[in-house]
Amino acid sequence: MKKSTKKSHSVNPWEVSGKIDYEKLTKEFGVEAIDDELLERIRKDAGETHFMLRRKVFFANRDLNWLLDKYEKGEKFFLYTGCGPSGPIHLGHLQTWIFTKWLQDKFKCDLWFQFTDDEKFLFKDKSYDEIEKWTYENMLDVIALGFNPKKTHFLVDTKNANLLYPEAIKVAKKITYSTVKAAFGFDDSKNIGEIFYTSMQAVPAFLPSVIAKKEIPCLIPLAIDQDPHFRVARDVYPKLGHYKPAIIHGVFLPPLSGIEGKMSTSKENDAILTTDSPKEVERKIKKYAFSGGRDTIDEHRKHGGNPEEDVSFQYLKMFFEPDDKKLEKIYNDYRSGKMLTSELKEILIKKINEFLRYHQEKREEAKKHIDKFLVKVKN
Ligand code: TRP
Repeated sequence: MKKSTKKSHSVNPWEVSGKIDYEKLTKEFGVEAIDDELLERIRKDAGETHFMLRRKVFFANRDLNWLLDKYEKGEKFFLYTGCGPSGPIHLGHLQTWIFTKWLQDKFKCDLWFQFTDDEKFLFKDKSYDEIEKWTYENMLDVIALGFNPKKTHFLVDTKNANLLYPEAIKVAKKITYSTVKAAFGFDDSKNIGEIFYTSMQAVPAFLPSVIAKKEIPCLIPLAIDQDPHFRVARDVYPKLGHYKPAIIHGVFLPPLSGIEGKMSTSKENDAILTTDSPKEVERKIKKYAFSGGRDTIDEHRKHGGNPEEDVSFQYLKMFFEPDDKKLEKIYNDYRSGKMLTSELKEILIKKINEFLRYHQEKREEAKKHIDKFLVKVKN
């Protein structure tokens, strides 16, 4: 428990750092917390609740009540989320997509899934060939989660340009350079593709409406760092005759090194990858997962650990232990000192490896099914 947590946070689509104060972020971004009433409404409409909602892993929204008004009147909505393919998929990505899958199952909706290969090419120092390779690899992880192929549509920005580009220019024409600069803190050194990019991410929120020739409400599950794109785009949608999409915002799964920032592959040993072997998972958790435990066993037994700071506990809470009773027992035992860090880590390692064994099997099978997910609509 040595880390300083004083540093203030920084959250935008290309940087997440510091100890994130989600309450403050809710105000900064102008989004709304999901209160008990809305939680209950989702439970009623979905037929059950999800532990990620109960535990505030998905904690904020825009216009979700508006979307549910429509839904309760019999108007179906579609889901939209995405992936920037620049490297291997880790548990942080999966958190949003697992929740998205739950929404698809419960509300029986179509999902439009965008792979922003253009974004990653423009923003990262990587070749187009490398990005293409990651697009393929990342698709396998999405498919492995079990999305319904009949209801799930993969858009790849450079491959589905025939559909996306005519709409993106309509968005782009309504966003000024100064708006983008202010929203993202861009300076004049940015390449001109980066300045245009938000208009590409804006499109799938209404593309299905364009294809259907009628307005269909949209819900976007995302990690909150992606919200600024939509904050900019939301002013534009009505000007083009489209609904503003509803959004549901998730917190970040912390990196192994401690509960600041988000899990990412930019630092080695800060992420658990979907392709990690059981040994690799064990090594990473044992060696790198920041512990809220005390320095010695004696001290730990006497004073107990701190689950709030403990990365392994947070992974159980946010992802791997859906059972509230079991989680509470782990919390209490760890807090009181009855459970040691090594024991907590064993529980987590077992859970992750069970999950990954299944995921890796499905990921292999997914290679045969990619074609079913690719959007082939011509315009
Ligand atoms: N920009 C996102 C990323 O870097 C990918 C993305 C595209 C996305 N469209 C989205 C994420 C909609 C959430 C919702 O990962």
